[in-house]
Amino acid sequence: MEKDKRAIIAPSILAADFSKTGEAIKMVEATGAKWIHLDVMDGAFVPNISFGPKFIKDLRPLSNLYFDTHLMIEKPERYIKEFAEAGSDCITVHAEATVHLHRVIAQIKGEGKASGVSIVPSTPVSSIELILEEVALVLIMSVNPGFGGQSFITSAFRKIGELDRLRKQHNLNFKIAVDGGVSPQNGHALIKLGADVLVMGSAFFSDPNQKGIVTTFQGP
Ligand code: DX5
Ligand code: ZN
Repeated sequence: MEKDKRAIIAPSILAADFSKTGEAIKMVEATGAKWIHLDVMDGAFVPNISFGPKFIKDLRPLSNLYFDTHLMIEKPERYIKEFAEAGSDCITVHAEATVHLHRVIAQIKGEGKASGVSIVPSTPVSSIELILEEVALVLIMSVNPGFGGQSFITSAFRKIGELDRLRKQHNLNFKIAVDGGVSPQNGHALIKLGADVLVMGSAFFSDPNQKGIVTTFQGP
């Protein structure tokens, strides 16, 4: 890896044992990671249910990690206030989950939070081109959202490259995050293409050397 190319590691709490979430958060912080990825699923936008704002609110006092909330819920405009008040630092919504994406992004910013937009593997980058100047983060899903531990869908490589080109072309500064099947093996290639944030669920939590992952990608 080139020395100047670093990425933020955002371990996904979905891969932790929920009965020990507090300990997991502290362990993540102890590795030197700066972010924690919080996957909210509603059983409608995705075929799984995870947790809601109270869970995030209860975790908030346990650490200073950057709370990166990924809303996999339909019509996220209904819950932006709750997730902001729970202590999220960034709130990411799916372009496919709302008709009025521009309005939802404005709502997130209105709550004083960083705003993110995400797209599933079958959604092209072109569909979010007009919102890029409004967001702080673009989250490229490299699996069909809903579950941890799935295999990486390789079209994400192309999408990250495309986003990085658009970012340079329009002189924008949103971060590019990638989520789903990300591991220490494919992480370097993703960073090289332009990814700034690697969301890691199972690959992180199953690794005996979690601090090593953070040090490798984020730097000491
Ligand atoms: C999937 C979630 C991911 C998930 C990633 O729907 O959005 O954040 O936790 O897990 P892995 O890294 O195991 O694919
Ligand atoms: Zn996620």
